[in-house]
Amino acid sequence: MSETISYTWRGAITDEEMVDLVRSHGGNAVAGWWSKVKEHSLGWVGARDGDGILVGFVNVAWDGGDHAFLIDTKTRGSHQHRGIGTAVVRMAVAHAHASGCEWLHVDFESELRGFYLDACGFRPTDAGLIHLPSRR
Ligand SMILES: CC(C)(COP(=O)(O)OP(=O)(O)OC[C@H]1O[C@@H](n2cnc3c(N)ncnc32)[C@H](O)[C@@H]1OP(=O)(O)O)[C@@H](O)C(=O)NCCC(=O)NCCS
Repeated sequence: MSETISYTWRGAITDEEMVDLVRSHGGNAVAGWWSKVKEHSLGWVGARDGDGILVGFVNVAWDGGDHAFLIDTKTRGSHQHRGIGTAVVRMAVAHAHASGCEWLHVDFESELRGFYLDACGFRPTDAGLIHLPSRR
């Protein structure tokens, strides 16, 4: 498909648009989530189709210094496998770099190794994770 997709850094995205995007790929949308989260972002990338519909997103959280964290990459269900996910990540990488960050982190399920490592250019590293509500 040759549809033109436009990409913005820190462009306005409403909570309702985010809920619609999450539902479009079968995710569990929580109303109010985006309004709360965005205040803590270095920035985010939004992708819109020719009609202005939100079709892609990624958020960049930040420690206030050298480290940024890529989180919540999403592509509309009807628009996946057209390079939109790779493109939103590419723009996030460029803006994190331009903002003075040295490292951009991401973690993901193993099924997405091809996306993050091959398509987006992250290199594998050891990392750790604790699900805090499950902690005894
Ligand atoms: C992961 C996701 C953002 C990828 O978006 P996308 O726009 O389809 O990605 P791209 O078109 O840029 O994909 C580039 C390549 O990455 C790999 N890839 C993309 N999605 C993949 C998936 N779900 N599983 C495995 N590999 C995938 C493929 O090699 C793909 O190339 P191909 O289309 O020729 O097969 C999208 O599948 C999505 O929104 N998933 C639901 C939410 C999610 O799980 N987000 C990740 C949170 S860590």
